[in-house]
Amino acid sequence: MTYQEEKRLLHGGDYNPDQWLAYPDILAQDMALMQASKVNTVSVGIFAWSALEPREGEFHFDWLDKIFDDVDKMGGNVILATPSGARPAWMSAAYPEVLRTTEKQEKLAHGGRHNHCFSSPIYRQKVAIINRKLAERYGQHPALYMWHISNEYGGDCHCAYCQENFRSWLKAKYGTLAALNAAWWGAFWSHTYTDWTQISSPSSLGETMVHGMNLDWKRFVTDQTIDFYEHEIKEIRVLTPDVPITTNFMGDGDALIPFQSLDYGKFAAHVDVISWDCYPAWHNDWGSTADLAAKVGFINDQYRALKQQPFLIMESTPSLVNWHPVNKAKRPGMHLLSSMQFLAHGSDSVMYFQWRKSRGSSEKFHGAVVDHDGRTENRVFKDVTAVGDALDKLANLKGSNKAARVAIIYDWDNDWALADAQGFSDASKRYPQTLQDHYRFFWNHDIPVDVITSDQALAKYDLVVAPMLYLMRQETMAKLADFVAKGGHLVSSYMTGYVDENDLAYLGGWPKPLQSLFGINVTETDTLYPKDRNGLLAAGQVFEVTDYCSLFEVKTAKTLATYTADFYQNQAAVVVNPYGQGQAYYIGARTGYAYLAAFYTDLVETLGLRNQWVVLSDPDVSVQSRQSDEITYHFVMNFSETDKTITVCEPTVDLLTGQAISKEIKLSPYQVRVLTSRD
Ligand code: GAL
Repeated sequence: MTYQEEKRLLHGGDYNPDQWLAYPDILAQDMALMQASKVNTVSVGIFAWSALEPREGEFHFDWLDKIFDDVDKMGGNVILATPSGARPAWMSAAYPEVLRTTEKQEKLAHGGRHNHCFSSPIYRQKVAIINRKLAERYGQHPALYMWHISNEYGGDCHCAYCQENFRSWLKAKYGTLAALNAAWWGAFWSHTYTDWTQISSPSSLGETMVHGMNLDWKRFVTDQTIDFYEHEIKEIRVLTPDVPITTNFMGDGDALIPFQSLDYGKFAAHVDVISWDCYPAWHNDWGSTADLAAKVGFINDQYRALKQQPFLIMESTPSLVNWHPVNKAKRPGMHLLSSMQFLAHGSDSVMYFQWRKSRGSSEKFHGAVVDHDGRTENRVFKDVTAVGDALDKLANLKGSNKAARVAIIYDWDNDWALADAQGFSDASKRYPQTLQDHYRFFWNHDIPVDVITSDQALAKYDLVVAPMLYLMRQETMAKLADFVAKGGHLVSSYMTGYVDENDLAYLGGWPKPLQSLFGINVTETDTLYPKDRNGLLAAGQVFEVTDYCSLFEVKTAKTLATYTADFYQNQAAVVVNPYGQGQAYYIGARTGYAYLAAFYTDLVETLGLRNQWVVLSDPDVSVQSRQSDEITYHFVMNFSETDKTITVCEPTVDLLTGQAISKEIKLSPYQVRVLTSRD
């Protein structure tokens, strides 16, 4: 079915029939099993290059033709992948340049996947050929729904081609070596370059202390990856202009912070739909279920907000993975709950890795819809079918969005610069985690949030939360000031506004635009040892302070809290400054959740941001809503191991069970209800 025609939410996942070509009996069962589990969409061809082109120039499409036709017959969708995520052995053998070179100048051997050079002319040529053939063959097929370009782009290559491209990128950016040397603070440790050829990528064997270079390398890697992606889709766009294009994004690790090695803020503009792969370690022994759920919520809100439209979950596991330190199965209820959470934050799909469990190699014990037993009676298959049922019932919410009045700013280059900064304490910087600490208040109180970059528009928000914006461009300062001047409320923190876009410290004290915006002048940042404590006295109550305390002179701001100890005892720690029509808050110290909760409770009250539908909430129960025309869908999710009750303002009906629900919503452990209200 085409993208334009499809009215259902997508349910399905990575389907790798290329692993089963020698097992026709198994392949013959797949479509019936898909129908039984309410699967309507499969992503195929992701790592199928050796099945598609087993020898150079020899193409085999018959097996894929059959899959397309079979999926079409069952009324399903194919998300067709380009196979560049892994290359065939013949290619690595004939053209070693397609393999990556590490930052230590070691050439990688053929073996794993995601090991290709983005600059290699031969790799680009081979990719263009296979992609064109796929587009020519399947571009008009009625089952083609979407393109899935490569797989989880990431990593970098330091070969001669990439070095040359890096130098070209730098020439285009700086024009002259004088400008580059100035931006990179070249005189430091004699790092001044007198010829472009002297520049090579950062390496642990060499010059990693040049922060400007490190930052530019990361930016270059993002641009080079996007350039490769654009190369992949060039002819696809021409041949299939109406078929949307995505590539699967990621989160980082099981802790689920934003993906660190590519600037997805930039990449988002190049895809038609954001899709991502989400693998939280549910039931772990290091945090509560709600802690993890809030982190998952944060990344989902980022992927919705980067394009301000629904996104897709391209991969998740129906049960367990194979790459966490401990690979634990989802407990009863968790599969439906975690799947509904994706929808609640704006996903129009629940898709899995993978449809059928591999027989060999590293993923043979990774969870899949169909296990080695091939049975439909097992727990996972039934869980998946239950999600399929739920998606059928919720189809009307497809395409609906969320209306957030709060934004949290996360910038990739700020994260990179701050991580590279030598000083403070590496163990306690925790930039993304700090944003998640602030986010937690809104998640606990069922207030929707957009996670955006500082390049995105701010006008529609009442509250912008931008802590630890250490790297701040002049334009960002002007933009934040303009937002506040027009009536916005801004929350900032310690470690803000230290360096410019080249990672060069601002001269002449804390930047003047920030001084007038916050009504203070930040003069010092004190880094505490892990066991050190200070306190913050706010409205007669003392809250604990750890890690960072900034010291500042108060000019026009009003003091909201003061330090309780040390040589800055009684000095201001938190202030608010009226600026134009709005207010700018500066939280000078790192506090625990208790202070953030007290702070945001007041602010949310002042700004009327409280969730009106929820009368009495519970921090472990997350309520997330999506609006479609006049109907609002409220997902009420119990991320805890105990029974919970929350109270809402009106009786309603549970769309999943058809049950009438009073204003008191009772939830058993891991239970989710989806309720509606009319606006
Ligand atoms: C993803 C990857 C899939 C599969 C999955 C296992 O990162 O895209 O191909 O390997 O992990 O969890």
